[in-house]
Amino acid sequence: MTTTADYSERIPNNVSLHEDRRLQRALESWQPNFLDWWRTMGPTLPTQDVYLRTAVNVGREGWAQFGHVAMPEYRWGIFLAERDQGRRVGFGEHKDEPVWDKVPGEYRADLLRLIVIQGDTEPASVEQQRNLGATAPSLYDLRNLFQVNVEEGRHLWAMVYLLHAYFGREGREEAEELLHRNSGSAAAPRILGAFNEETPDWLSFYMFTYFTDRDGKYQLGTLKESAFDPLSRTCEFMLKEEAHHMMVGTTGVDRVVERTAQVMVEHDTDEVAGLGAIPLPVIQKYLNFHYSVSLDLFGGETSTNVANYYTAGLKGRWSEDRRQDDHRLTDDSMMVDALIDGEIGQLEVAALTGLNTDLRRQYIHDCRGGLNRWNKILADAGLPQRLKLPHIAFNRRVGAFAGIEASSDGEQLTAEEWERRKGEWLPTAVDKTHVRSLMRPVYERGKIAAWIAPPRSGINGQPFDYDYVHLA
Ligand SMILES: [Fe+2]
Ligand SMILES: [Fe+2]
Repeated sequence: MTTTADYSERIPNNVSLHEDRRLQRALESWQPNFLDWWRTMGPTLPTQDVYLRTAVNVGREGWAQFGHVAMPEYRWGIFLAERDQGRRVGFGEHKDEPVWDKVPGEYRADLLRLIVIQGDTEPASVEQQRNLGATAPSLYDLRNLFQVNVEEGRHLWAMVYLLHAYFGREGREEAEELLHRNSGSAAAPRILGAFNEETPDWLSFYMFTYFTDRDGKYQLGTLKESAFDPLSRTCEFMLKEEAHHMMVGTTGVDRVVERTAQVMVEHDTDEVAGLGAIPLPVIQKYLNFHYSVSLDLFGGETSTNVANYYTAGLKGRWSEDRRQDDHRLTDDSMMVDALIDGEIGQLEVAALTGLNTDLRRQYIHDCRGGLNRWNKILADAGLPQRLKLPHIAFNRRVGAFAGIEASSDGEQLTAEEWERRKGEWLPTAVDKTHVRSLMRPVYERGKIAAWIAPPRSGINGQPFDYDYVHLA
């Protein structure tokens, strides 16, 4: 196994694809379908080239190179993190056995399912974001959007490689389906709800990359623990790219909050809508929406499927090796969120069945980091207002609270109350129209839209006013 990418091939890779002609041909015949999908469902804004990072290696240093690239010619490749020769299964009933290079027959259906679900989210987000280029607040932001887009495309490649290499005809058929389902499509929607929501404006984009890409980080983190070594190594490398997507979200929301705070202080008012900024309550509502739909992505509070995945060694916990327990969990219990006699509460369950809750809690803890950053921006501006995460039962459509309605403070509401009051917590048509009215493109080098602050630094050491994108 070489870790140096082979760029002489049609499909750049570090998996010695040329040694397996059948697999190479299969992937080469999927490639034009991928490119068709990119052309029809990918970014709509015509560009000549974009200053993009391309993965070229998987080593600790210099794994990517930067340069202006025409997007359809981006070198989407297949990269697995380096093999850890002595790696052993870290959890479940196979704990301490050598990891698997092939798919064990008994776990084939489950692994296929896990890979297809992960794979489905990657092109979905590209579809959700396809029209955002038309309203980018700066060339820097436009470049970041396209970087996220091409890398989600590469993540699709990562999953399709696994499907083709390890799951035979069924895998190839699933790889085709990944291009046929489309975000928001009535006939063939994407598998998970949050990936059928549109991303119609840049505030949504930053919230999506903060909250929903972060869900991706946690899912990849559990698959990185997998006993199926190729899946583990694939996810490990994807996590490297994912970090940038979350940086885009984190600093994007930073900059919106910063600009709003500036305008509030400058004009000594909370009413900044008429002054070209996004009011804090509207930012809060967008946050509430994206956070709550992202919580749904972790699934029900309890799940026997996930318990089985864990026991089988298919999917671990976040930071499995840092957990201070036996990594089998057969005798442990935990408290999960639940509806008890109609009230929001907690219930003790077997630790194995509560693993979705465990992962969701890790995620929630991580999300608090963003809130702390944004509230520090408000505090530093001398403002008393603060942003917060809504209650776990708020706006949930999956799990224990799917059947009830709750305010952002966790107060239970009747269906009528919810209908009457939901506009206090979720973006209303008026809020959305206002945010969209601010979305005018700024394509001039070094310029930025009035509703957002410029970034503190550029990309790869380049200045903010660098020519990140050449429009067609
Ligand atoms: Fe991704
Ligand atoms: Fe991502």
